[in-house]
Amino acid sequence: MYWEKELEILDRKSLERLQVERLNRTLLQAVNAPGYRRIPKIAALARSGISSIEQLRELPFTTKSDLRDNFPWGFLAADKRDVVRLHSSSGTTGNPTVVYHNRHDLASWAKLMARSMFAAGVRDSDVFQNICGYGLFTGGLGFQYGAEKLGCLSIPAGAGNSLRQIKLMRDFGTSVAHAIPSYLGRLFEVFKDEGLDPRRDTQLRTLIIGAEPHTEEHRQRIEEMFGVKAYNSFGLTEMNGPGVAFECTEQNGLHIWEDAFAVEIIDPESLQPVADGEIGELVMTTLDRQAMPVIRYRTRDLTRFLPGDCQCGRSHRRIDRISGRSDDMFIVKGCNVFPMQVEGILMKLPEVGDDYRIILDTIADQDEMIVEVEVKREWFTGDLAFLDRLQRHITRLIRDEVLVRPVVSLVEPGSIPKAEGKAIRVFDRRKN
Ligand code: COA
Ligand code: AMP
Ligand code: ZN
Repeated sequence: MYWEKELEILDRKSLERLQVERLNRTLLQAVNAPGYRRIPKIAALARSGISSIEQLRELPFTTKSDLRDNFPWGFLAADKRDVVRLHSSSGTTGNPTVVYHNRHDLASWAKLMARSMFAAGVRDSDVFQNICGYGLFTGGLGFQYGAEKLGCLSIPAGAGNSLRQIKLMRDFGTSVAHAIPSYLGRLFEVFKDEGLDPRRDTQLRTLIIGAEPHTEEHRQRIEEMFGVKAYNSFGLTEMNGPGVAFECTEQNGLHIWEDAFAVEIIDPESLQPVADGEIGELVMTTLDRQAMPVIRYRTRDLTRFLPGDCQCGRSHRRIDRISGRSDDMFIVKGCNVFPMQVEGILMKLPEVGDDYRIILDTIADQDEMIVEVEVKREWFTGDLAFLDRLQRHITRLIRDEVLVRPVVSLVEPGSIPKAEGKAIRVFDRRKN
């Protein structure tokens, strides 16, 4: 059973032909954006056209810094009047990355989402609860439009407020929910505190989990706690958001939708393609986006192609769960954080000394970001009211930047152990 049968089971040759056709269209559209128009190779291939998907490799990569450096309009390839929505990464100190969509783009994304959810067994008879941040986060509106396209009764619950989540689930008979894996442990504890068991006291049968890395063991624990099947959903804002790659009911890797994206896996050092089946960095090109095509985007996510065909019959290749990143970004409570964002804030404050460290830990079943900050000797006095104000000020600044409230701990100068060589700033002690 498929949502868009012709596209989902298209034979590989026809799929590649479709990719070439769409890539040519994408290049023609991309050169409307100043950021791409000034790259001679892109302008040349847009004019001459390409005849095989391998020619993609002749094009330059696009990185997050390219997108940031051209903020806000440099990669917009359509008339501003035709753009109907933007999504953006967090951050107030540097330029965020922004992605623009026109009506075609949103319709195409909604179809990809409906297709993905259908592949994981979601049907129009389901009641779907989206336990995910709305607003600029793509998981909110992305899943929302997908669920509506599919015909589910959707509950746009948003993140947080676990008691209300449970009440919604029970009142409306939620059968499918989307949430971030690290939050589900906390939600389960709240169920227990209320004397409830999600296996017995809800109608949940499917959880869609994604937006942050998790292991197979973690998935199994979630399935056990909630008495459901849990399916992995992968995506990133630059490629719309969710709906890039999704597990089907075979649960054997994530089909990456190759009619909408051209996919490469490269060695992040040599930038050359890795051997088939080896782990490398995922590089993606949009094939069906008009307002903001993105060419050879270096996602920084590490994965590999999985061998063999899937029993479900879908011809789109499968990638393995994301095993790490080729940069230092980490995700906490579903929010992406670069250590430099935290450092940028701290180093601007005259009271702060040279050292700090970020500890990621699981406290009372919830992931937390602890930031230890050395205060300069002259400020580290017995004035507790001053230190309390400083602590609250830093907490506020970091929260505004990364959207997660950190636990800030002010410490004496010299008390953070010095690392040998390159300073290691992030210590991940989370359970999963
Ligand atoms: N998803 C849903 N709820 C979450 C969550 C997550 N990833 N992480 C924490 N929560 C819950 C907490 O359990 C708490 O619930 P409670 O009301 O039952 O106590 C509530 O949100 C507030 O958590 P807290 O830790 O006090 O807040 P914070 O200021 O550190 O974080 C969030 C605020 C949770 C709102 C913010 O981290 C967020 O929006 N996360 C979701 C991000 C997301 O959806 N990403 C997907 C991108 S596609
Ligand atoms: P954002 O652009 O904020 O949606 O964040 C996208 C990033 O979240 C990706 O580049 C990944 O690093 C991470 N991510 C999203 N989905 C998954 C997933 N299923 N598994 C692991 N990491 C994920
Ligand atoms: Zn499959």
